[in-house]
Amino acid sequence: MQKTSVADLLQSKNTGIEVTLKAWVRTFRANRFIALNDGSTIKNIQCVVDFENTDENLLKRITTSAAVSVTGILEESQGKGQAVEIKVSKIEILGDSNPDEYPIQPKKHSFEFLRENAHLRIRTNTFSAVMRIRSILTFAVHKYFTENGFFNVHTPIITGSDAEGAGEMFQVTTLDLGNPPKDEKGKPDYSKDFFGKETNLTVSGQLEGETYAMGLGKIYTFGPTFRAENSNTTRHLAEFWMIEPEVAFNDLDANMDLAEDFIQNVIKYTMETCKDDLAFLNERFVKEESQKPQLQRSEWSLIEKLQFVLDNNFKRVSYTEAYEILRNSKPNKKKKFQFPINEWGVDFQSEHERFLVEKHFKCPVILFDYPANIKAFYMRLNDDGKTVRAMDVLFPGIGEIVGGSQREERLDVLKEKLKALDIDEKEMWWYLDTRRFGTAVHSGFGLGFERLVQFVTGMNNIRDVIPFPRTPQNADF
Ligand code: 4AD
Ligand code: MG
Repeated sequence: MQKTSVADLLQSKNTGIEVTLKAWVRTFRANRFIALNDGSTIKNIQCVVDFENTDENLLKRITTSAAVSVTGILEESQGKGQAVEIKVSKIEILGDSNPDEYPIQPKKHSFEFLRENAHLRIRTNTFSAVMRIRSILTFAVHKYFTENGFFNVHTPIITGSDAEGAGEMFQVTTLDLGNPPKDEKGKPDYSKDFFGKETNLTVSGQLEGETYAMGLGKIYTFGPTFRAENSNTTRHLAEFWMIEPEVAFNDLDANMDLAEDFIQNVIKYTMETCKDDLAFLNERFVKEESQKPQLQRSEWSLIEKLQFVLDNNFKRVSYTEAYEILRNSKPNKKKKFQFPINEWGVDFQSEHERFLVEKHFKCPVILFDYPANIKAFYMRLNDDGKTVRAMDVLFPGIGEIVGGSQREERLDVLKEKLKALDIDEKEMWWYLDTRRFGTAVHSGFGLGFERLVQFVTGMNNIRDVIPFPRTPQNADF
């Protein structure tokens, strides 16, 4: 007798042996067929109960989500759709689940309802498929970088700097908020705080990552990131995971090559590894799309969409070219955009990004050379004096999935930039040191991991691809 998983059993050729399986009941039909799932695969294993010889009270306790231990002979299945089943000789209830109280019934629930039950939704097919894929994607990220000579760096989560300069930070303090010590100006005295200065949760590991690229050459970070932006959209979280590679001696073109190769590679690995989960999500995606109005419907299935990204180069377009395309576009002329495009230098909104990707180019797009004043201080200034070597990768259905740049490696230019933005040079002394001692061209980018998981799983809302989403007014669980 061996203890085993559903995934192992379904692949087993060892029929005729006795097995023991511990798992949860998905369904129980006709007092005879139990579908068991243990999370190892999207598939259930069918267990056939000899109900005539089983205690009636025991049968009553075989309810959805009860934990059970089943022992029996693994047999070739008589039923359709599965190779093997367990002919049960012994069943033990490990943990009851009262069907009148258990919230997740074997029927379709709304995603809103399931979010309120985020601690139980992992027991559904959709969420277990999404989270298995999330796990495999995580592995694919580490695999890709490790195999390509990158080193993983754990950058700090508590930091004193605002890398993006967007001021969307969560403060970290041990001061008594009701009665903080005050300085001469009557402001909270952070010299008395835990770290002796003002600190926040990181919005990006980039700045620290850059210093490590200047010693290890090729590095990447993969960690939690926090942004207190009050945007209640299907693509924003207050806590998300970001992957940030940084490479010494890479210019922007090499950075674009890396982003494209990296994304294609992790998607390919996941498609090869998660076939069953993707087949399930593909079916779900196609069904959902078919219920949408014709104009909003995806022309492709999920798998076709993923395959398309693997088979095609990302289109590289400068901000200025994209600006002209948008300015002359039908929706702009017909005033269909919420934010009209009529002045070079405006930041593109997600409606513009999606127009470029979904309507105009119909493929992933990399926009580069953005106006300097809509981008962060660390991006390298072009010779025109008004654009920077920035790049954003835009994906269908998602919009921006990657933001990156070639970094300003010239000390004098960087100092000018800090001055113009009123950022204290002294605060950035360690960052500026990298430009003082052996400075070099270098580039990197940040990929929002949840947006990648959204793309691969076809899930519409970012709250459904992270176990316990943190969004404005919501930090339950
Ligand atoms: O474009 P962003 O702000 O770039 C940076 O933070 C750079 N320091 C990255 C770098 O060059 N190393 O963020 C990068 C990506 C975005 O493209 C998006 O995919 C994701 O992070 N992102 C978010 N994902 C979920 N929720 C949010 N609130 C996000 N904000 C950014
Ligand atoms: Mg960005």
